[in-house]
Amino acid sequence: MQKGHSAVVTGLGAWLPPRVVGNDELAQRLDTSDEWIRSRTGIRERRIADPDTSTVDMAVHAGGNALRSAGSDVVDALVLATSTADQLCPASAPQVASGLGLSGIAALDVNAVCSGFVYALATAGGLIAAGTADRVLVIGADVFSRLCDPQDRGTLPIFGDGAGAVVLRRGSADEPGAIGPFDLHSDGELADLLIVPAGGAKQRESADPHDYFLTMQGTTVFRHACARMAESARTVLDRAGLEVGDVDRFVGHQANLRILQATAKQLGLPQDRVVANIGHAGNTSAASIPLALADACDDGSLQPGHRVLMAAFGAGLTWGSTLLSWPDVKPG
Ligand code: COA
Repeated sequence: MQKGHSAVVTGLGAWLPPRVVGNDELAQRLDTSDEWIRSRTGIRERRIADPDTSTVDMAVHAGGNALRSAGSDVVDALVLATSTADQLCPASAPQVASGLGLSGIAALDVNAVCSGFVYALATAGGLIAAGTADRVLVIGADVFSRLCDPQDRGTLPIFGDGAGAVVLRRGSADEPGAIGPFDLHSDGELADLLIVPAGGAKQRESADPHDYFLTMQGTTVFRHACARMAESARTVLDRAGLEVGDVDRFVGHQANLRILQATAKQLGLPQDRVVANIGHAGNTSAASIPLALADACDDGSLQPGHRVLMAAFGAGLTWGSTLLSWPDVKPG
């Protein structure tokens, strides 16, 4: 991005549904155990949205908190990263904007599943770099509990619901909070590794009820997630002229604690630089990176001036990464 046209973080917000579902509660319904889930994923509990709470509702909560953190509700555009939009059509972003009292601004959904937040940051950064917008609200929100088969021990324990957001403003590349460079990728040949086969526009109906739920080839996804996030992180560091040793905090997509640890190991990054909130939030898909940023701010592990490496991986397949040095911003 040109100097003078960078996107700079100026607000941060998070929102989790109040209902906590611990591993023991799941073990009463599924053939699993607290010990298995903790040791294989690092997850102790997750938040689950009640039936009346939708992705739009969660996004409005997190977006409102980010605007409060920014100290202003003036934005020209809203980019919502989600793969659990309230409806197949239209996009949810305009309803989120209206819910925040921002009817009239540009609003669009970005669907890159668990990489959605990094993709949405790049989209918003592009709007700012092109001069189309001065300030953009970027929200990641997903309610993946609705896509998981309640009988499937392979997916249900992993996912949680939630939303996180940042406000970006126009600024310069050398100031704290400036985001970039980016590295983004996809591979649609591997879409079947993580997919909800039915209910979309191609196959509206299926005789098999399982086709409406997420199917996942977990072990293969695990391998791809570590390799692709590490590869992308190296690329983005090269582009920025930085070394792995320059990274203070690695805020990766929170899919599995072992994925975060293995990715850090592949990068040669000390484990104490890994930010992990998956233990209490689970995999919240597009919300996971901003929720991890907010938790790390709250517990003091993320401080102004820290160089942050963000990397994500998700269904599609999609993956990508970006960098920023953390500004003096606290969750609203
Ligand atoms: N409780 C108890 N046992 C379980 C279980 C559960 N919740 N889920 C699977 N198992 C069993 C399997 O049936 C298998 O049993 P078997 O050896 O008798 O066949 C055994 O545990 C090992 O299963 P496996 O799938 O090889 O485990 P794993 O170590 O790969 O862990 C995941 C499974 C899903 C936790 C792991 O693969 C993962 O996290 N993958 C990535 C998922 C992901 O990140 N998805 C989102 C991407 S954005």
